[in-house]
Amino acid sequence: MKTYLVANFKANLTEKEVKKWIGGFQDSNLEIMPDLELVICPAFIHLDEFKPLINTHKKLKLGVQDLSGLRKGAFTGEITAQSLKNEGVAYAILGHSERRRLFKETNQRVLEKVKQALKYKITPIVCVDKNNFSSQIKLINQLKIAKQQIIIFAYEPLSAIGTGQAENPREVEKITLIIKKQTNSPLLYGGSVNPKNAVLFLKPSINGLLVATASLKAKSFLEIIKNINEKIK
Ligand code: PGA
Repeated sequence: MKTYLVANFKANLTEKEVKKWIGGFQDSNLEIMPDLELVICPAFIHLDEFKPLINTHKKLKLGVQDLSGLRKGAFTGEITAQSLKNEGVAYAILGHSERRRLFKETNQRVLEKVKQALKYKITPIVCVDKNNFSSQIKLINQLKIAKQQIIIFAYEPLSAIGTGQAENPREVEKITLIIKKQTNSPLLYGGSVNPKNAVLFLKPSINGLLVATASLKAKSFLEIIKNINEKIK
């Protein structure tokens, strides 16, 4: 199975900072292990900036941090899965706890987004925490999914997101083993992952990492890649 490393820039980075990030990444000429899939999720307005990088790095994929659960039409401000697919988007983070908390996204709303993503062959990365993983996975398990399509789940404990206090890897393993009983999907861990602790979370039940703060500088993101390369080679 692949190992995933997903960068979630959230609502950070100016155009100038994005250019710097891309320059830093390119200059590193870092080798990426064949089994490692890198997914970069910038703000929507910066997707274009990443296209040249994505086109030259086969292991690098473009992702978004949300998409509309609606089809195209009179839905002011929405961004559809269809239009994102046309922009080369391959992955979508859905149901992040910040969206659930700040924008009142429910399991049902996330399900609609998952459906739209799948319809346009965008791989959903559905974020769950201790309180909602069972109900969210139960809903998603009812979907009919084409054989070649996958849905990724990301276990993100609320206390670990953006706090610098990652969850204890043993506790993460315990929860991910429970989640794995409910789904065959790849499962990521997210929450204060950094270059020092990243590989501690790569256990048989954890197929990758979702990283926000430590992905904002190319240097620390590259360090995480290096450490994962060492672990999985
Ligand atoms: P963090 O955020 O890496 O800054 O803790 C993780 C996330 O929100 O996905």
